[in-house]
Amino acid sequence: MRYYIQTFGCQMNENDSRHIASLLASAGHKPCLQTEEADIIIVNTCCVRESAENRAVGFIGSLKHLKENNPELIIVVCGCMSQKDGNANMLASKYRHIGIIIGTFAISFLPQYIEEYAATGKRIIDITERYDMEEPSYGSLNSTINEQYRAQVNINFGCNNFCTYCIVPYVRGRERSRKPEDIISEIKQLASSGVKEVQLLGQNVNSYGKDMNGNNWDFAQLLIAINDINGIERIRYMTSHPRDFDQRLAEIIAKLPKVCSHFHLPVQSGCDRILKLMNRGYTTDEYKQKIGIIRQLIPDATITTDLIVGFPGENDNDFNQTLQFLQDIEFDAAYTFIYSKRSGTIAADLPNHIPEQIKKERLQILMDIQNQISLKLNRKLVGTTQEVMIDGISKNREDMLSGRTSGNKIVVFPLREKNIWHPGDLIPIKINSAQTWNLVGQYSD
Ligand code: SAH
Ligand code: SF4
Ligand code: F3S
Repeated sequence: MRYYIQTFGCQMNENDSRHIASLLASAGHKPCLQTEEADIIIVNTCCVRESAENRAVGFIGSLKHLKENNPELIIVVCGCMSQKDGNANMLASKYRHIGIIIGTFAISFLPQYIEEYAATGKRIIDITERYDMEEPSYGSLNSTINEQYRAQVNINFGCNNFCTYCIVPYVRGRERSRKPEDIISEIKQLASSGVKEVQLLGQNVNSYGKDMNGNNWDFAQLLIAINDINGIERIRYMTSHPRDFDQRLAEIIAKLPKVCSHFHLPVQSGCDRILKLMNRGYTTDEYKQKIGIIRQLIPDATITTDLIVGFPGENDNDFNQTLQFLQDIEFDAAYTFIYSKRSGTIAADLPNHIPEQIKKERLQILMDIQNQISLKLNRKLVGTTQEVMIDGISKNREDMLSGRTSGNKIVVFPLREKNIWHPGDLIPIKINSAQTWNLVGQYSD
């Protein structure tokens, strides 16, 4: 059968979708490019914010007429939204055209469920949380489907942090780490098939290994081992939790040549009162101290963050503290979000939810300030030469190539006939000018 996968959400979900594609390919199914051509449509959902949920639900709704035209069509809904309490039943009763609903723990069973459903036509729902199962190795399957030169590799799953605004721990379960030998052999295999950049994935990569009894691997050790793998040239990871990020890790990263000089440390708020309400486990001073350590050890490091505006009870003074914090730290970039109430989380029941209009205004003010800072820091790179890994032809300009610095900044530069290039090549690029979101340069020879 032919399958089509629509993915919403973060890199975890993107990687899960690749895993689903691998499993379906092994079961003899073939990918297709349009929902109209598909025998199986898989919707991999996200519920981190209401907007993500709305997009997924809108897409599910739009599939109704396809099912009416083709009663054999198998519609699968999976991912974080299906795993959330009560959602599977809601989806099942509201959208009769869905055939299979599975949560984030049941992906490996999908091929078998598809077979069962095709045979019986009986709807299947599986949102059981499974902790006793060996995590599947994404291994060789991944490399056949991923971009050739870059691959994502899960190192741990789930989250134990319960930040009060966040639904992820409820839909991804408790933290569990993959065995180091599985991760390392997967990356070796990827490297031998031509992968040069590996991106390690986890909701909190810094707590890697903490759940493994009698095994003293931690994230730093894992980085050391991966740094030794021949063929791998760059190592990235996301996401770090500032509370669990320490000097020892920064010192080790500083010594490992392949680990990129990019630190994504989501701060969420620059106000101690709000950080406490968010249950983030650090103060602004502690956070600043950690940034100080990074800048001292790796002066050219890029530092990025995530921020939420309009957390319940956030007043003007709290918000102004966040603005001041941004000015003090000077992040290279920030992903900024409007607080979205997630039922079942602690923050959903806090008093003084902020009106949408004020949240939007705050977001705009925050983004304006951050954009100025991003531009200022990017301008500092004009005149320098950066090692850039080529991604491919620029999305906006056919005569330009696009790539990334070790600090994860996007660099575009003119394509030259005399230069033969491949995605994944590392080349020196001289930076000529800077914009808020990217740098423009040229071959440095
Ligand atoms: N584990 C990662 C990613 C979590 S989701 C981490 O801890 O950073 C990515 C980002 O979404 C978070 O960093 C946070 O800024 C944002 N986010 C999570 N829940 C949210 C909510 N209810 N409303 C708005 N933004 C939210
Ligand atoms: Fe959500 Fe916090 Fe876990 Fe990140 S660390 S996934 S924000 S609960
Ligand atoms: Fe969304 Fe699930 Fe990722 S809720 S952000 S897809 S972990």
